[in-house]
Amino acid sequence: VANAKAFYKPVNEGIVPRKAADHHSEHAGRIVKEAMEQAKNALMAAGGPGAGDFDFSSLDGIAFACGPGLGPCLQTGAAAAAFLALKYDLPLAGVNHCHAHVEVARWQLGYSDPLALYVSGGNTQLVVGTKHGGRKAGRAGAGTSPSFGAPFRVLGETLDMGVGNLFDAFARRLGEKWAHGSVVAAKAAAGKNYHPLPYTVKGMNFAFSGLLTAAEREIGKVDENDLCYSLMETAFAELCEASERALLLTGKKEVVVCGGVAQNPHLVGMVKQMAESHGANAGAAENQYNADNGGMIALAGAQMLEAGKAVDARRVEIDQRYRIDQVE
Ligand code: FE2
Repeated sequence: VANAKAFYKPVNEGIVPRKAADHHSEHAGRIVKEAMEQAKNALMAAGGPGAGDFDFSSLDGIAFACGPGLGPCLQTGAAAAAFLALKYDLPLAGVNHCHAHVEVARWQLGYSDPLALYVSGGNTQLVVGTKHGGRKAGRAGAGTSPSFGAPFRVLGETLDMGVGNLFDAFARRLGEKWAHGSVVAAKAAAGKNYHPLPYTVKGMNFAFSGLLTAAEREIGKVDENDLCYSLMETAFAELCEASERALLLTGKKEVVVCGGVAQNPHLVGMVKQMAESHGANAGAAENQYNADNGGMIALAGAQMLEAGKAVDARRVEIDQRYRIDQVE
């Protein structure tokens, strides 16, 4: 019912963990207030009983991302969540960030048991859940699905950098002030000629650092738009090939593309085309749920609490390297 957010946008540098954490603590209070207002307005608009009295005591619990991620940022979120849970005497859920990305896409598309292509800055993985209840969640059903996907299995993943980082790093090499993948995507859309670049798929795993190095060497020699176009086409083709192998291996009938790079409609279109050629559906959530967001943490947290997995707010733990296949 609410998805308030604030974005840390580094200029002329990469992400500095301390600065990102400062941004979190500066904006946390305001964003929580904004989310509570959004929720109240949404509930009142829906005409729910008692919506006018909506406040913290109306909540079923508090959730936070306990990993993976940057230590200082995770700590800031954990401290804020533990504070709210203790102050309002609410159960607390520690959520795996990747699980939340996969789950929110599944929820919004109304899929029950998809293969997930999770593509973001730090992560790039092919994931399947191993346990599903079957009822379609769907957007209209708003609320949580009884089908809890964990434990998850990672079928394939990047052997070096996340695909989002590949584009961010390349934007930086191009001298962009805001070195973000969307800058590369905008140039790629204007590119026409494909320039061959190294392509690395190993089974269901992929690698991008060789591709980055090769593309960097062509800066100034190949038209910039064409180079961005070639870089994206190569990386996306790698993702599609590995996804296709995973789809055929598992026999799944649904594919979700999730994570920050799922905001790229060209990638989603390619995955759709691949999936449809095998009789499977594919799609991505709307953009507010692709980039990092609180709504996805709330959704996965609600499922954790329903599954009886609350954590002690006096002993919150974070794990910078918490993998999705460690979620119980
Ligand atoms: Fe993320």
